[in-house]
Amino acid sequence: MTKSNSGNEMWGGRFASGPDAIMEEINASIDFDRKLYAQDISGSKAHASMLAQQGIISSEDATQIASGLDTILSEIEAGEFKFSRALEDIHMNIEARLRELIGDAAGRLHTARSRNDQVALDFRMWVRATLTGISLSLDAIIAALLQKAEHHADTVMPGFTHLQSAQPVTFGHHCLAYVEMFARDKSRVEDAIARSDECPLGAAALAGTGFPIDREMTAKALGFSGPTRNSLDSVSDRDFALDLLSSASICGGHLSRLAEEIVIWSTPQFGFVTLSDKFSTGSSIMPQKKNPDAAELVRAKSGRINGSLIGLLTVLKGLPLAYSKDMQEDKEAVFDAASALEVSLAAMTGMISDMTVNTDAMKAAAGSGFSTATDLADWLVREAGLPFRDAHHVTGRAVALAEQEGKQLDELSLEQLQGIHDAINASVYDVLSVEASVSSRTSFGGTAPENVRKQVAYWKERTNKG
Ligand code: ARG
Repeated sequence: MTKSNSGNEMWGGRFASGPDAIMEEINASIDFDRKLYAQDISGSKAHASMLAQQGIISSEDATQIASGLDTILSEIEAGEFKFSRALEDIHMNIEARLRELIGDAAGRLHTARSRNDQVALDFRMWVRATLTGISLSLDAIIAALLQKAEHHADTVMPGFTHLQSAQPVTFGHHCLAYVEMFARDKSRVEDAIARSDECPLGAAALAGTGFPIDREMTAKALGFSGPTRNSLDSVSDRDFALDLLSSASICGGHLSRLAEEIVIWSTPQFGFVTLSDKFSTGSSIMPQKKNPDAAELVRAKSGRINGSLIGLLTVLKGLPLAYSKDMQEDKEAVFDAASALEVSLAAMTGMISDMTVNTDAMKAAAGSGFSTATDLADWLVREAGLPFRDAHHVTGRAVALAEQEGKQLDELSLEQLQGIHDAINASVYDVLSVEASVSSRTSFGGTAPENVRKQVAYWKERTNKG
Protein backbone atom coordinates (compact mmCIF):
# COMPACT_ATOMS: atom_id res chain seq x y z
CA MET A 1 0.00 0.00 0.00
CA THR A 2 1.35 3.47 -0.90
CA LYS A 3 1.76 5.59 2.22
CA SER A 4 1.62 9.37 2.42
CA ASN A 5 2.38 11.90 5.12
CA SER A 6 -0.65 13.99 4.42
CA GLY A 7 -3.01 12.29 6.82
CA ASN A 8 -5.32 11.32 4.00
CA GLU A 9 -4.85 7.92 2.47
CA MET A 10 -7.37 8.59 -0.31
CA TRP A 11 -5.56 11.46 -2.06
CA GLY A 12 -2.36 11.75 -0.05
CA GLY A 13 -0.13 11.56 -3.13
CA ARG A 14 -0.68 15.18 -4.05
CA PHE A 15 -0.59 16.65 -0.52
CA ALA A 16 2.32 17.61 1.71
CA SER A 17 0.32 18.35 4.84
CA GLY A 18 -2.97 17.35 6.45
CA PRO A 19 -5.93 19.70 6.83
CA ASP A 20 -6.28 22.50 9.35
CA ALA A 21 -8.66 21.65 12.20
CA ILE A 22 -11.15 24.19 10.89
CA MET A 23 -10.88 22.69 7.42
CA GLU A 24 -11.80 19.32 8.89
CA GLU A 25 -14.62 20.92 10.83
CA ILE A 26 -16.21 22.57 7.80
CA ASN A 27 -15.50 19.71 5.43
CA ALA A 28 -16.59 16.64 7.36
CA SER A 29 -20.07 15.33 6.69
CA ILE A 30 -19.77 12.01 8.49
CA ASP A 31 -21.78 13.24 11.47
CA PHE A 32 -24.87 13.31 9.27
CA ASP A 33 -24.18 11.33 6.11
CA ARG A 34 -23.54 8.17 8.14
CA LYS A 35 -27.31 7.77 7.76
CA LEU A 36 -26.58 6.68 4.19
CA TYR A 37 -24.45 3.69 5.17
CA ALA A 38 -26.89 0.99 3.95
CA GLN A 39 -27.34 2.67 0.57
CA ASP A 40 -23.60 3.22 0.25
CA ILE A 41 -22.91 -0.45 0.87
CA SER A 42 -25.60 -1.71 -1.55
CA GLY A 43 -24.32 0.71 -4.19
CA SER A 44 -20.77 -0.50 -3.74
CA LYS A 45 -21.76 -4.16 -3.88
CA ALA A 46 -23.69 -3.63 -7.10
CA HIS A 47 -20.77 -1.67 -8.56
CA ALA A 48 -18.21 -4.32 -7.62
CA SER A 49 -20.16 -7.19 -9.09
CA MET A 50 -20.71 -5.21 -12.30
CA LEU A 51 -16.98 -4.45 -12.49
CA ALA A 52 -16.26 -8.18 -12.16
CA GLN A 53 -18.85 -9.19 -14.74
CA GLN A 54 -17.36 -6.71 -17.19
CA GLY A 55 -13.87 -8.07 -16.56
CA ILE A 56 -12.70 -4.75 -15.07
CA ILE A 57 -11.73 -6.35 -11.75
CA SER A 58 -11.25 -10.03 -10.96
CA SER A 59 -14.09 -12.04 -9.54
CA GLU A 60 -11.87 -12.91 -6.54
CA ASP A 61 -11.49 -9.21 -5.74
CA ALA A 62 -15.24 -8.70 -6.17
CA THR A 63 -15.99 -11.55 -3.78
CA GLN A 64 -13.61 -10.17 -1.18
CA ILE A 65 -15.07 -6.69 -1.59
CA ALA A 66 -18.61 -8.00 -1.13
CA SER A 67 -17.79 -9.96 1.97
CA GLY A 68 -15.81 -7.06 3.46
CA LEU A 69 -18.78 -4.78 2.84
CA ASP A 70 -21.09 -7.26 4.54
CA THR A 71 -18.82 -7.24 7.57
CA ILE A 72 -18.89 -3.45 7.63
CA LEU A 73 -22.68 -3.46 7.42
CA SER A 74 -22.92 -5.68 10.47
CA GLU A 75 -20.32 -3.62 12.32
CA ILE A 76 -22.30 -0.44 11.70
CA GLU A 77 -25.59 -2.07 12.64
CA ALA A 78 -24.10 -3.44 15.84
CA GLY A 79 -22.82 0.02 16.73
CA GLU A 80 -19.23 -1.21 16.59
CA PHE A 81 -18.01 0.83 13.63
CA LYS A 82 -15.59 3.66 14.44
CA PHE A 83 -16.60 6.66 12.35
CA SER A 84 -13.79 9.12 11.75
CA ARG A 85 -14.14 12.80 10.95
CA ALA A 86 -10.67 12.74 9.42
CA LEU A 87 -12.14 10.44 6.78
CA GLU A 88 -14.69 13.13 5.94
CA ASP A 89 -17.73 11.23 4.82
CA ILE A 90 -19.52 7.89 4.80
CA HIS A 91 -17.95 6.88 1.47
CA MET A 92 -14.38 7.24 2.68
CA ASN A 93 -15.10 5.84 6.12
CA ILE A 94 -16.41 2.65 4.56
CA GLU A 95 -13.67 2.40 1.96
CA ALA A 96 -10.96 2.90 4.57
CA ARG A 97 -12.41 0.17 6.78
CA LEU A 98 -12.67 -2.11 3.74
CA ARG A 99 -8.97 -1.63 3.18
CA GLU A 100 -8.26 -2.61 6.77
CA LEU A 101 -10.40 -5.71 6.36
CA ILE A 102 -9.39 -6.99 2.90
CA GLY A 103 -6.25 -5.07 1.98
CA ASP A 104 -5.38 -3.94 -1.53
CA ALA A 105 -8.48 -5.35 -3.25
CA ALA A 106 -10.40 -2.55 -1.54
CA GLY A 107 -8.56 -0.05 -3.70
CA ARG A 108 -10.15 -1.56 -6.84
CA LEU A 109 -13.71 -0.78 -5.73
CA HIS A 110 -13.47 2.87 -6.72
CA THR A 111 -12.58 2.02 -10.34
CA ALA A 112 -14.89 3.79 -12.82
CA ARG A 113 -16.66 5.61 -10.00
CA SER A 114 -16.36 8.87 -8.11
CA ARG A 115 -17.80 10.07 -4.84
CA ASN A 116 -19.87 12.40 -6.99
CA ASP A 117 -21.97 9.65 -8.57
CA GLN A 118 -21.70 7.64 -5.37
CA VAL A 119 -23.30 10.31 -3.19
CA ALA A 120 -25.90 11.12 -5.85
CA LEU A 121 -26.85 7.44 -5.81
CA ASP A 122 -26.83 6.95 -2.04
CA PHE A 123 -28.89 10.03 -1.35
CA ARG A 124 -31.36 9.25 -4.12
CA MET A 125 -31.89 5.75 -2.77
CA TRP A 126 -32.42 7.12 0.74
CA VAL A 127 -34.91 9.67 -0.55
CA ARG A 128 -36.81 7.00 -2.52
CA ALA A 129 -37.07 4.71 0.50
CA THR A 130 -38.18 7.62 2.67
CA LEU A 131 -40.82 8.71 0.16
CA THR A 132 -42.17 5.16 0.15
CA GLY A 133 -42.48 5.31 3.95
CA ILE A 134 -44.22 8.70 3.74
CA SER A 135 -46.65 7.30 1.22
CA LEU A 136 -47.58 4.52 3.68
CA SER A 137 -47.99 7.06 6.50
CA LEU A 138 -50.35 9.00 4.25
CA ASP A 139 -52.40 5.83 3.75
CA ALA A 140 -52.67 5.55 7.53
CA ILE A 141 -53.89 9.11 8.09
CA ILE A 142 -56.34 8.78 5.21
CA ALA A 143 -57.71 5.56 6.76
CA ALA A 144 -58.10 7.25 10.17
CA LEU A 145 -59.98 10.18 8.60
CA LEU A 146 -62.22 7.88 6.55
CA GLN A 147 -63.19 6.02 9.67
CA LYS A 148 -64.18 9.25 11.39
CA ALA A 149 -66.00 10.46 8.27
CA GLU A 150 -68.03 7.27 8.05
CA HIS A 151 -68.92 7.38 11.71
CA HIS A 152 -69.88 11.05 11.53
CA ALA A 153 -71.62 11.26 8.17
CA ASP A 154 -74.69 12.71 9.95
CA THR A 155 -72.97 14.75 12.66
CA VAL A 156 -73.70 18.44 12.13
CA MET A 157 -71.22 21.15 12.96
CA PRO A 158 -70.85 24.79 12.00
CA GLY A 159 -69.04 25.35 8.74
CA PHE A 160 -66.92 28.49 8.84
CA THR A 161 -65.69 31.15 6.52
CA HIS A 162 -63.49 33.83 8.08
CA LEU A 163 -63.83 31.59 11.18
CA GLN A 164 -67.36 32.96 11.50
CA SER A 165 -70.29 30.53 11.45
CA ALA A 166 -71.36 30.33 7.84
CA GLN A 167 -73.53 27.31 7.07
CA PRO A 168 -73.95 24.00 8.86
CA VAL A 169 -71.88 21.14 7.48
CA THR A 170 -71.34 17.56 8.52
CA PHE A 171 -68.24 16.56 10.44
CA GLY A 172 -67.86 13.66 8.00
CA HIS A 173 -67.64 16.16 5.15
CA HIS A 174 -65.02 18.16 7.04
CA CYS A 175 -62.91 15.01 7.55
CA LEU A 176 -63.24 14.18 3.86
CA ALA A 177 -61.84 17.60 2.95
CA TYR A 178 -58.59 16.48 4.59
CA VAL A 179 -58.78 13.11 2.85
CA GLU A 180 -58.71 15.05 -0.44
CA MET A 181 -55.62 16.98 0.69
CA PHE A 182 -53.70 13.95 1.91
CA ALA A 183 -54.62 11.99 -1.21
CA ARG A 184 -53.14 14.80 -3.33
CA ASP A 185 -50.06 14.73 -1.11
CA LYS A 186 -49.76 11.03 -1.74
CA SER A 187 -49.97 11.53 -5.48
CA ARG A 188 -47.18 14.14 -5.26
CA VAL A 189 -45.06 11.67 -3.32
CA GLU A 190 -45.75 8.94 -5.88
CA ASP A 191 -44.80 11.34 -8.68
CA ALA A 192 -41.55 12.09 -6.90
CA ILE A 193 -40.80 8.38 -6.55
CA ALA A 194 -41.53 7.82 -10.24
CA ARG A 195 -39.33 10.75 -11.30
CA SER A 196 -36.40 9.54 -9.24
CA ASP A 197 -36.45 6.11 -10.88
CA GLU A 198 -33.14 6.54 -12.76
CA CYS A 199 -29.76 5.50 -11.47
CA PRO A 200 -26.87 8.01 -11.52
CA LEU A 201 -24.17 5.44 -10.73
CA GLY A 202 -21.61 5.29 -13.52
CA ALA A 203 -21.68 9.01 -14.31
CA ALA A 204 -18.35 8.94 -12.44
CA ALA A 205 -16.91 12.36 -11.52
CA LEU A 206 -18.87 14.26 -14.20
CA ALA A 207 -17.99 12.99 -17.66
CA GLY A 208 -18.61 9.23 -17.56
CA THR A 209 -15.74 6.76 -17.82
CA GLY A 210 -13.61 4.98 -20.38
CA PHE A 211 -14.05 1.64 -18.59
CA PRO A 212 -16.59 -0.69 -20.23
CA ILE A 213 -19.13 -0.46 -17.40
CA ASP A 214 -22.69 -1.76 -17.63
CA ARG A 215 -24.96 0.91 -16.20
CA GLU A 216 -28.13 -1.03 -17.02
CA MET A 217 -26.89 -3.80 -14.79
CA THR A 218 -26.19 -1.64 -11.74
CA ALA A 219 -29.41 0.31 -12.24
CA LYS A 220 -31.48 -2.89 -12.25
CA ALA A 221 -29.58 -4.37 -9.31
CA LEU A 222 -30.34 -1.27 -7.25
CA GLY A 223 -34.05 -1.22 -8.05
CA PHE A 224 -34.10 1.49 -10.74
CA SER A 225 -35.75 1.18 -14.16
CA GLY A 226 -32.57 2.28 -15.88
CA PRO A 227 -29.60 4.65 -15.81
CA THR A 228 -29.71 8.46 -16.02
CA ARG A 229 -28.87 9.76 -19.51
CA ASN A 230 -26.49 12.65 -18.89
CA SER A 231 -23.43 12.35 -16.68
CA LEU A 232 -23.23 16.09 -15.88
CA ASP A 233 -26.84 16.19 -14.80
CA SER A 234 -26.49 12.92 -12.90
CA VAL A 235 -23.94 14.26 -10.45
CA SER A 236 -25.45 17.71 -10.06
CA ASP A 237 -29.15 16.90 -9.95
CA ARG A 238 -30.80 17.18 -6.55
CA ASP A 239 -34.34 17.60 -7.87
CA PHE A 240 -35.30 14.38 -6.11
CA ALA A 241 -34.44 16.03 -2.78
CA LEU A 242 -36.40 19.15 -3.71
CA ASP A 243 -39.32 16.94 -4.76
CA LEU A 244 -39.30 15.39 -1.31
CA LEU A 245 -39.06 18.78 0.39
CA SER A 246 -41.71 20.45 -1.71
CA SER A 247 -44.19 17.62 -1.32
CA ALA A 248 -43.35 17.51 2.39
CA SER A 249 -43.92 21.27 2.65
CA ILE A 250 -47.33 21.07 1.04
CA CYS A 251 -48.29 18.08 3.18
CA GLY A 252 -46.94 19.85 6.28
CA GLY A 253 -49.14 22.81 5.40
CA HIS A 254 -52.20 20.55 5.31
CA LEU A 255 -51.22 19.00 8.62
CA SER A 256 -50.78 22.44 10.15
CA ARG A 257 -54.30 23.46 9.14
CA LEU A 258 -55.78 20.34 10.69
CA ALA A 259 -53.60 20.86 13.75
CA GLU A 260 -54.87 24.42 14.11
CA GLU A 261 -58.47 23.23 13.85
CA ILE A 262 -57.83 20.65 16.56
CA VAL A 263 -56.32 23.35 18.77
CA ILE A 264 -59.44 25.47 18.29
CA TRP A 265 -61.93 22.59 18.56
CA SER A 266 -60.40 21.30 21.78
CA THR A 267 -60.68 24.60 23.67
CA PRO A 268 -63.35 24.58 26.40
CA GLN A 269 -65.01 27.43 24.49
CA PHE A 270 -65.56 25.25 21.41
CA GLY A 271 -65.49 21.82 23.02
CA PHE A 272 -66.04 20.09 19.66
CA VAL A 273 -63.44 17.38 20.32
CA THR A 274 -61.66 15.96 23.33
CA LEU A 275 -58.17 14.68 22.74
CA SER A 276 -57.28 11.44 24.45
CA ASP A 277 -54.94 11.60 27.43
CA LYS A 278 -52.40 9.81 25.25
CA PHE A 279 -52.18 12.85 22.99
CA SER A 280 -52.45 15.65 25.55
CA THR A 281 -50.24 17.16 28.19
CA GLY A 282 -50.98 18.84 31.49
CA SER A 283 -49.75 22.09 32.95
CA SER A 284 -47.24 22.10 35.79
CA ILE A 285 -49.06 24.99 37.48
CA MET A 286 -52.71 24.98 36.32
CA PRO A 287 -54.31 21.68 37.32
CA GLN A 288 -57.40 22.13 35.15
CA LYS A 289 -55.46 22.26 31.90
CA LYS A 290 -55.24 19.70 29.17
CA ASN A 291 -53.11 21.03 26.38
CA PRO A 292 -53.05 19.97 22.72
CA ASP A 293 -49.24 20.03 22.55
CA ALA A 294 -49.02 17.41 19.81
CA ALA A 295 -51.29 19.48 17.58
CA GLU A 296 -49.29 22.62 18.30
CA LEU A 297 -46.05 20.85 17.47
CA VAL A 298 -47.48 19.51 14.21
CA ARG A 299 -48.50 23.09 13.42
CA ALA A 300 -44.94 24.24 14.12
CA LYS A 301 -43.13 21.43 12.28
CA SER A 302 -44.61 22.71 9.06
CA GLY A 303 -42.59 25.91 9.45
CA ARG A 304 -39.47 23.90 9.94
CA ILE A 305 -40.13 21.79 6.83
CA ASN A 306 -40.72 24.93 4.76
CA GLY A 307 -37.42 26.25 6.06
CA SER A 308 -35.63 23.17 4.78
CA LEU A 309 -37.16 23.59 1.34
CA ILE A 310 -36.17 27.24 1.10
CA GLY A 311 -32.72 26.37 2.44
CA LEU A 312 -31.98 23.77 -0.19
CA LEU A 313 -33.53 25.75 -3.04
CA THR A 314 -31.17 28.56 -2.07
CA VAL A 315 -28.11 26.33 -1.78
CA LEU A 316 -28.68 24.90 -5.26
CA LYS A 317 -29.60 28.07 -7.11
CA GLY A 318 -26.84 29.43 -9.29
CA LEU A 319 -24.49 26.44 -8.91
CA PRO A 320 -22.48 25.84 -12.08
CA LEU A 321 -22.36 22.32 -13.49
CA ALA A 322 -21.40 19.82 -12.37
CA TYR A 323 -20.70 18.87 -8.74
CA SER A 324 -19.73 21.52 -6.18
CA LYS A 325 -19.16 20.89 -2.51
CA ASP A 326 -22.13 23.14 -1.76
CA MET A 327 -24.17 20.08 -2.55
CA GLN A 328 -22.99 18.38 0.61
CA GLU A 329 -25.34 20.82 2.38
CA ASP A 330 -28.30 19.01 0.82
CA LYS A 331 -28.63 16.25 3.37
CA GLU A 332 -29.39 17.72 6.78
CA ALA A 333 -32.32 19.72 5.43
CA VAL A 334 -33.83 16.61 3.91
CA PHE A 335 -33.16 14.37 6.93
CA ASP A 336 -34.65 16.94 9.27
CA ALA A 337 -37.72 17.63 7.13
CA ALA A 338 -38.39 13.93 6.56
CA SER A 339 -38.32 13.12 10.25
CA ALA A 340 -40.43 16.18 11.08
CA LEU A 341 -43.01 15.06 8.52
CA GLU A 342 -42.98 11.44 9.64
CA VAL A 343 -43.50 12.27 13.30
CA SER A 344 -46.21 14.80 12.38
CA LEU A 345 -48.12 12.28 10.28
CA ALA A 346 -47.87 9.66 13.00
CA ALA A 347 -48.95 12.07 15.75
CA MET A 348 -51.85 13.39 13.70
CA THR A 349 -53.02 9.87 12.83
CA GLY A 350 -52.96 9.02 16.54
CA MET A 351 -54.80 12.20 17.55
CA ILE A 352 -57.53 11.67 14.95
CA SER A 353 -58.05 8.00 15.77
CA ASP A 354 -58.16 8.57 19.50
CA MET A 355 -60.13 11.79 19.80
CA THR A 356 -63.71 11.95 21.06
CA VAL A 357 -66.09 13.93 18.88
CA ASN A 358 -68.57 15.84 21.02
CA THR A 359 -71.57 15.70 18.73
CA ASP A 360 -73.87 17.64 21.07
CA ALA A 361 -71.50 20.60 21.28
CA MET A 362 -71.06 20.55 17.52
CA LYS A 363 -74.79 20.46 16.98
CA ALA A 364 -75.50 23.28 19.43
CA ALA A 365 -72.88 25.45 17.74
CA ALA A 366 -74.17 24.50 14.30
CA GLY A 367 -77.54 25.96 15.15
CA SER A 368 -76.22 29.21 16.54
CA GLY A 369 -75.14 32.25 14.60
CA PHE A 370 -78.13 32.12 12.19
CA SER A 371 -76.33 29.46 10.22
CA THR A 372 -79.44 28.53 8.24
CA ALA A 373 -79.98 32.06 6.91
CA THR A 374 -78.93 30.95 3.42
CA ASP A 375 -81.51 28.17 3.62
CA LEU A 376 -84.21 30.75 4.31
CA ALA A 377 -83.06 32.83 1.37
CA ASP A 378 -83.01 29.74 -0.87
CA TRP A 379 -86.52 28.84 0.33
CA LEU A 380 -87.77 32.33 -0.65
CA VAL A 381 -86.26 31.86 -4.11
CA ARG A 382 -87.69 28.37 -4.55
CA GLU A 383 -91.11 28.70 -2.93
CA ALA A 384 -91.95 32.39 -3.27
CA GLY A 385 -90.20 33.09 -6.58
CA LEU A 386 -88.07 35.96 -5.22
CA PRO A 387 -84.86 36.88 -7.01
CA PHE A 388 -81.92 35.76 -4.82
CA ARG A 389 -80.80 39.34 -4.11
CA ASP A 390 -84.27 40.23 -2.75
CA ALA A 391 -84.41 36.99 -0.78
CA HIS A 392 -81.02 37.87 0.72
CA HIS A 393 -82.43 41.23 1.83
CA VAL A 394 -85.59 39.73 3.34
CA THR A 395 -83.51 37.14 5.19
CA GLY A 396 -81.25 39.87 6.51
CA ARG A 397 -84.30 41.48 8.11
CA ALA A 398 -85.32 38.15 9.64
CA VAL A 399 -81.80 37.76 11.09
CA ALA A 400 -81.93 41.30 12.51
CA LEU A 401 -85.27 40.56 14.15
CA ALA A 402 -84.05 37.26 15.60
CA GLU A 403 -80.96 38.99 16.93
CA GLN A 404 -83.06 41.69 18.52
CA GLU A 405 -85.34 39.09 20.11
CA GLY A 406 -82.40 36.94 21.26
CA LYS A 407 -83.70 33.97 19.25
CA GLN A 408 -82.52 31.62 16.52
CA LEU A 409 -84.23 31.83 13.12
CA ASP A 410 -86.38 28.74 13.71
CA GLU A 411 -87.56 30.22 17.03
CA LEU A 412 -89.28 33.16 15.31
CA SER A 413 -93.06 32.70 15.09
CA LEU A 414 -94.81 32.39 11.74
CA GLU A 415 -96.47 35.77 12.40
CA GLN A 416 -93.09 37.37 12.95
CA LEU A 417 -91.75 35.83 9.73
CA GLN A 418 -94.84 36.83 7.78
CA GLY A 419 -94.44 40.35 9.11
CA ILE A 420 -91.19 40.42 7.17
CA HIS A 421 -92.56 38.80 4.01
CA ASP A 422 -96.13 37.68 3.50
CA ALA A 423 -95.23 34.79 1.17
CA ILE A 424 -93.66 32.89 4.05
CA ASN A 425 -95.68 29.90 5.27
CA ALA A 426 -95.21 27.12 7.84
CA SER A 427 -93.26 24.87 5.46
CA VAL A 428 -90.31 27.26 5.91
CA TYR A 429 -89.56 25.56 9.24
CA ASP A 430 -88.60 22.43 7.29
CA VAL A 431 -85.47 24.17 6.05
CA LEU A 432 -84.57 26.17 9.14
CA SER A 433 -83.17 23.26 11.16
CA VAL A 434 -79.50 22.40 10.76
CA GLU A 435 -80.33 18.79 9.85
CA ALA A 436 -82.62 19.93 7.05
CA SER A 437 -79.97 22.36 5.91
CA VAL A 438 -77.20 19.78 5.56
CA SER A 439 -79.51 17.12 4.11
CA SER A 440 -80.57 19.52 1.36
CA ARG A 441 -76.99 20.06 0.15
CA THR A 442 -76.89 17.12 -2.20
CA SER A 443 -75.13 18.86 -5.10
CA PHE A 444 -72.04 16.89 -6.14
CA GLY A 445 -69.33 17.62 -3.61
CA GLY A 446 -71.87 19.03 -1.12
CA THR A 447 -72.07 18.25 2.58
CA ALA A 448 -75.25 16.10 2.72
CA PRO A 449 -74.88 12.89 4.77
CA GLU A 450 -75.77 10.79 1.73
CA ASN A 451 -72.93 12.43 -0.20
CA VAL A 452 -70.53 11.79 2.66
CA ARG A 453 -71.40 8.10 2.63
CA LYS A 454 -70.86 7.92 -1.13
CA GLN A 455 -67.51 9.69 -0.87
CA VAL A 456 -66.36 7.39 1.93
CA ALA A 457 -67.22 4.43 -0.30
CA TYR A 458 -65.34 6.04 -3.20
CA TRP A 459 -62.18 6.54 -1.15
CA LYS A 460 -62.36 3.12 0.46
CA GLU A 461 -62.55 1.52 -2.96
CA ARG A 462 -59.65 3.61 -4.25
CA THR A 463 -57.43 3.07 -1.25
CA ASN A 464 -58.10 -0.66 -1.15
CA LYS A 465 -57.02 -0.93 -4.76
CA GLY A 466 -53.84 0.72 -3.50
N1 ARG B 1 -19.51 14.14 1.11
C1 ARG B 1 -19.71 14.58 -0.23
C2 ARG B 1 -21.12 15.11 -0.42
O1 ARG B 1 -21.95 14.82 0.37
C3 ARG B 1 -19.45 13.46 -1.18
C4 ARG B 1 -19.03 13.90 -2.53
C5 ARG B 1 -17.68 14.53 -2.46
N2 ARG B 1 -17.16 14.79 -3.77
C6 ARG B 1 -16.12 15.58 -3.94
N3 ARG B 1 -15.73 15.77 -5.16
N4 ARG B 1 -15.50 16.17 -2.97
O2 ARG B 1 -21.45 15.80 -1.34
